[in-house]
Amino acid sequence: MTSFLSDRVLVLQGDITRVQADAIVNAANSTLMGGGGVDGAIHRAGGPAILEACEEIRRTIWPEGLPPGKAVATTAGRLPARYVIHTVGPIWRGGKQGEDELLVSAYRESLKLAYELGCKSIAFPAISTGVYGFPFERSVPLVCSVVREWAASFEKIILVFFSQRDYDLFLSLQTFEEA
Ligand code: APR
Repeated sequence: MTSFLSDRVLVLQGDITRVQADAIVNAANSTLMGGGGVDGAIHRAGGPAILEACEEIRRTIWPEGLPPGKAVATTAGRLPARYVIHTVGPIWRGGKQGEDELLVSAYRESLKLAYELGCKSIAFPAISTGVYGFPFERSVPLVCSVVREWAASFEKIILVFFSQRDYDLFLSLQTFEEA
């Protein structure tokens, strides 16, 4: 399943580890040591080089872990990408603990880093909407606004939804076409 929100913004239903893009974004946790969900899938498909690079980042740049809303890049290992960009979304705590701002920051910092690395295409999973519990419906306008900010800086921004339900919901709620 594929839909275009514009000539530069593509929405897919499927497994992000199969998507070809210069950068693939990982919905990681602060430890950067892997986990379940999309994080587990990216480490499994990309192989051990990704974890080794994450360990190096923990040793050198973020010894206390990557804070929510920040992003770092590693090799993509065996994935069909140049980089994996690891970001940490907010854990949902009811919506009044800065969750919206942190979610926007996770997307924005990932886009900024990919741009600085010369990436022309980037693929995102639905950050924080799995284990971290951010309500999917609430994430949609936030994701649309940050993608709109950055769309002109990339050839393709790809939003990948694992479930058909999320894919359909995103398309029905997306605000991308608004001015
Ligand atoms: N491709 C694309 N999307 C996927 C894939 C995949 N292969 N696997 C899971 N997803 C989707 C989930 O369906 C969900 O919509 O990614 C979205 C984000 O869910 P999580 O992976 O649970 O991420 P998040 O909510 O940000 O929680 C992060 O989960 O696994 C841990 O280490 C991770 O602790 C961190 C936490």
